[in-house]
Amino acid sequence: MKRDVISMLDVKDDLLDIIALSRQLKTKSKKGESIKLLKDKTLAMLFEKSSTRTRVSFEVGMTKLGGHAIFLSTNDIQLGRGETIEDTALVLSRYVDLIMYRAKSNLAMQELAHHATVPVINGLDDQEHPCQVITDLMTIQEHKDTLKDRTFVYIGDGNNNMAHSYLLGCGIVGMHCRIVAPKPYWPDQKYVNRVKDFGITVDITDDISTATQKADVVATDTWVSMGDETEKEKRLTQFKAYTITQKIMQQAQPDAIFLHCLPAYYGYEVTKEVAHGPQSVIFDEAENRLWAQIGIMVTLAKNTE
Ligand code: CP
Ligand code: NVA
Repeated sequence: MKRDVISMLDVKDDLLDIIALSRQLKTKSKKGESIKLLKDKTLAMLFEKSSTRTRVSFEVGMTKLGGHAIFLSTNDIQLGRGETIEDTALVLSRYVDLIMYRAKSNLAMQELAHHATVPVINGLDDQEHPCQVITDLMTIQEHKDTLKDRTFVYIGDGNNNMAHSYLLGCGIVGMHCRIVAPKPYWPDQKYVNRVKDFGITVDITDDISTATQKADVVATDTWVSMGDETEKEKRLTQFKAYTITQKIMQQAQPDAIFLHCLPAYYGYEVTKEVAHGPQSVIFDEAENRLWAQIGIMVTLAKNTE
């Protein structure tokens, strides 16, 4: 049976195993040992939105695994001229072993996954960004050893793909989760309700003055996600008080780390001083996209063997 990773919930039973595999393959590859576990396999990378990290890390990851990746922009393929998602999924499934899709909507993502007969990996949609959050949990584990019972604080747009996947990710690994955002940008209630089943403390607040208290991890994301551009001016005004500054970091645990999935807009969601400062691990995080996705691809390909 093929297995997809569309939501964090799709890895709820083996998230820590995927992270362990990713870390093991990272160590092996860095020692110069071969990790060609997907020899002769092909990954189609289907993009409806821009990307730097997702595109490069998936392609390099597939090369390291001994396979091949094909970049497909929807501007260039027939999907952009009206071919259906269903036919695109059925045709790609005849050629490739895995599909990574960056979609404008979660609906399109679900549709592609439904029709594809090979595993589909969500490389971001408007609801979730699971590859990034699996990567971030791996990065937190590398820096803090344990995830369970840590306090994770996300400040910024609480209603975007990163916030939703963080909520679910925290639930799965047992980290306390605080989302700090202006009220109109609180998370979709669907995710809040779902994460409560995992028994973690979830705290959603608009109070920036105590936002980072007891935080082991402080994270943010852009205030204007891809697709939100028409609301840019309104958002910049509404989020004005939520910039992560050195002062806000100082209220966290002294050894707290700072995460940002990137791209970052300095002076808005975070100052450059924090993002490039001693507590920041954003470039370890960016690198780990490569290793976490290697772990994800190997896990999914194993499932279809
Ligand atoms: N973090 C992330 O997904 O980056 P890209 O948009 O560059 O892929
Ligand atoms: N929330 C951002 C993440 C970018 C990687 C967006 O969707 O644009």
